[in-house]
Amino acid sequence: MPTATYRIFDPLLPAAQAESMLRACERFGPYGMYSQEASEAEIGQGLLQRHDAVMNFLETGGRFGRRDTPAALGARTNYFRESYAYGDDVRLPGIEPFLGYEGFVEAARAIHGRPVIEPAIVYANILVAGQELAVHTDVPEFRGANRKIFPQWLMVVMHHSGLFDEHRMRIATAVGWFNDARGGAFAYYPDGAGSAAATIPARANTGIILDTDAVFHGVDPVERIGAMPEMRPGMRLVFDGDRWSLRDGDREHARYRWDEIRFSISWKAYCFADEGERRAWREHRDDLHLDHILDRLVADLRARGRVNGARPEPTALALLLIDEYVRFPAAEAA
Ligand SMILES: [Fe+2]
Repeated sequence: MPTATYRIFDPLLPAAQAESMLRACERFGPYGMYSQEASEAEIGQGLLQRHDAVMNFLETGGRFGRRDTPAALGARTNYFRESYAYGDDVRLPGIEPFLGYEGFVEAARAIHGRPVIEPAIVYANILVAGQELAVHTDVPEFRGANRKIFPQWLMVVMHHSGLFDEHRMRIATAVGWFNDARGGAFAYYPDGAGSAAATIPARANTGIILDTDAVFHGVDPVERIGAMPEMRPGMRLVFDGDRWSLRDGDREHARYRWDEIRFSISWKAYCFADEGERRAWREHRDDLHLDHILDRLVADLRARGRVNGARPEPTALALLLIDEYVRFPAAEAA
């Protein structure tokens, strides 16, 4: 695999702008927990949305191969997320310098060699002390196939299979940090899953842009002293003027200083070759359909000798697809 294109921003924004953005993020909230829901789709019913990444994390213990109980692993990976903007719909006043940052737009053009850039979403991810993000590639999107209608693992399989490249939406993802976190480095594999990881620290007013749908990446653990509080779905994080407060309903479970929080903001943009390509996507002129997707994948599994005879039932097929196509980086020694 050739080295993926990426660009690092240091500094990212003028200092005063970065500072005022951070204050806006504090005012926004509460921040809800982003956890794994089971998929309702007819293929792979009952599998987790990110079955690929979750199973790899449980099997390998993450980048450092650390073993833990499933409950502890859950607490370590149930992080927080809120969206600040969808296209032009700005939900957090003050986020505009990040949403419209010209440096991202220029770099996005270079990443895919495509000139027409359409910012799609800006959202915050928050990890608290002790949390980490399992190595994964992001959920990609294809004309006619996206995470709103199909399971997330299927989108990931489609991308890693390479069979649907003509329909793949090219997306550039930027990640920015606006506080200094203890730990929580961004780990990524620019030379492919078979090569070593590179890391960059989560340091205030820095950032990176890359194709996170193609490049494996994750977040190393945020430093923690003492035991982690229980992390249950439905918990929320609020900034109360002094500290971040972890709440379950009205009850406070933990408080965090800014440096015990890893706060990042992500920016994703579609990258089109020309206006014609953008129109084909918008007007659904060339959409994929589920029957075709599955037929194509099963035909490829047969060619690879992974399916002989009848097509496996949906859940077995789902697990086989993940196993065959999504090849994760190996865990490293701690
Ligand atoms: Fe990601």
